[in-house]
Amino acid sequence: MTIQQLLSQRVQAALAAAGAPDAPAIVQPSGKPEFGDFQANGVMGAAKALKTNPRALAQAVVEQLDLDGIAEKIEIAGPGFINIHLAPEFLAGRLQAALTDDALGIARPVPQKVMVEYSSPNLAKEMHVGHLRSTIIGDAIARVLGFVGHDVARCNHVGDWGTQFGMLVAYLLETRQSGDAELELADLENFYRKAKVRFDEDAVFADTARNFVVKLQGGDAEVLALWQQFVAVSMAHCQEVYDKLGVGLTLDAVRGESAYNDDLPVVVSDLRAAGLLVEDQGAQVVFLPEFKNPEGEAQAMIIQKKDGGYLYATTDLAAVRYRHRTLDLKRVIYVVDARQSLHFQQLFTLSKKAGFAPADMVLEHVAFGTMMGEDGRPFKTRSGGTVKLVELIDEAIERAYALVSEKNPGLAEDTRRSIARAVGVGAVKYADLSKNRTSDYIFNWDTMLAFDGNTAPYLQYAYTRVQSVFRKAGDFNAAAALFIAEPAEKQLALLLAQFDEVIESVASTCQPHQLCGYLFNLAQQFSRFYEACPILAAEGAVRDSRLQLAALTARTLKTGLELLGIAVLDEM
Ligand code: ARG
Repeated sequence: MTIQQLLSQRVQAALAAAGAPDAPAIVQPSGKPEFGDFQANGVMGAAKALKTNPRALAQAVVEQLDLDGIAEKIEIAGPGFINIHLAPEFLAGRLQAALTDDALGIARPVPQKVMVEYSSPNLAKEMHVGHLRSTIIGDAIARVLGFVGHDVARCNHVGDWGTQFGMLVAYLLETRQSGDAELELADLENFYRKAKVRFDEDAVFADTARNFVVKLQGGDAEVLALWQQFVAVSMAHCQEVYDKLGVGLTLDAVRGESAYNDDLPVVVSDLRAAGLLVEDQGAQVVFLPEFKNPEGEAQAMIIQKKDGGYLYATTDLAAVRYRHRTLDLKRVIYVVDARQSLHFQQLFTLSKKAGFAPADMVLEHVAFGTMMGEDGRPFKTRSGGTVKLVELIDEAIERAYALVSEKNPGLAEDTRRSIARAVGVGAVKYADLSKNRTSDYIFNWDTMLAFDGNTAPYLQYAYTRVQSVFRKAGDFNAAAALFIAEPAEKQLALLLAQFDEVIESVASTCQPHQLCGYLFNLAQQFSRFYEACPILAAEGAVRDSRLQLAALTARTLKTGLELLGIAVLDEM
């Protein structure tokens, strides 16, 4: 149980004993040492509901509040706040437990089968910046859920099916026969562009392309083989990006749209059997009264087009069914652009109505905003084209290399190269993860690569500074006891003891920026501690105890950064 939960429980019991059993115990970190470490501020509301004097009720609650061994001082402040000052020995005990636990003392919930669906690019084209956010955010969420002990499946729901593939496959065949297909495929953007030109300009080619779509749908072996070749090349491009980024996606995680192809007619007939499907202007649609258009009418969700073709939503319905019936998942997290919000709300509602997912299966759209350029518009190249992800990552690494070389020219070339990889990739990831994911954000090289401020380089550097203490300290007693005496020690201890709180919150809200904010506070608090409380110059038990605080800080920073997919370094 986290400290906050423990305190809430005790305050709740005290409220009940003081005659206010229905009042919620609102316990929060106070934010200011003079207000205690935590503050209970539910008393005023409770007093209002009971029509009694808040300070008198606060007094009654404090008298009933059992925080033996937890708090050293409890005081009433203002109109009825209860300020709780934790006992140093209690904090020390929590930290000691964290020090001896691989998972830093976090609580282990009952493991759940969870899927994080992320990245999911369309394979017709090269990955571009639009896929960056999903890839980075999804990976961090998958790491956090795995860390708390859930059984996490990662899924890359790639777009590998649909009419575009007829055109691409027809063009692949053409280049195989009369050109250098391998060379052409090296740049998928170009490949797509050329195929499109052929499609628009040559009626015979366009006919072949359309015919290939039909053949693909019908399972024609030759066309399928060409399609597989194309998909394999495109997936290899993606894998290059994943490897560079260091995200845990491999081919094993891929289950693309094509995998549900055979199931689409079944989805339609199931919806019909459930009485949900109606014909509307020749198309098969479902009207969901939960979603109204501006005229106040139920919005239509198209399941099958007039010409018999299926849609994005049809595939997603089949995927939900598969994820429940075959994979038995309890929670599925879709890390997809906020612009698809309506689609997912409709999908989830319909899935439950149709019985494709049971009522208690958690289907979550983890939405994110757009990555913007300096001009406040969606991020583009100078000439207005889409930015290829590979190029963006390479540029980040190059920029980091220049910075590192400038800061630390004495380091060996290959050391600087590997630092540059960790810093460059870390900076791009952290810049994204540290923002509230639902808002748009402006992509800026200089801010994300700055060595001060809430950035990856700042945190990576803070980690190396803590590590350097250990290099200078020599052997120390890793089982030494902790003594928390100085205010700066207590503030650091308090933060370290709240790591579990943050992790729990990120696991439930899927908001990695909370972890970023926490790590940034921790790094700053460590500097304050470092200035106020000499470590190496201290002696005996005090020195050992401070080294313990430093050790736990280092492990917390490392674990936290790794959960965000960011590597730490011993020097930089
Ligand atoms: N391929 C889609 C795109 O690039 C994203 C897929 C999201 N996942 C889903 N189950 N619909 O926009």
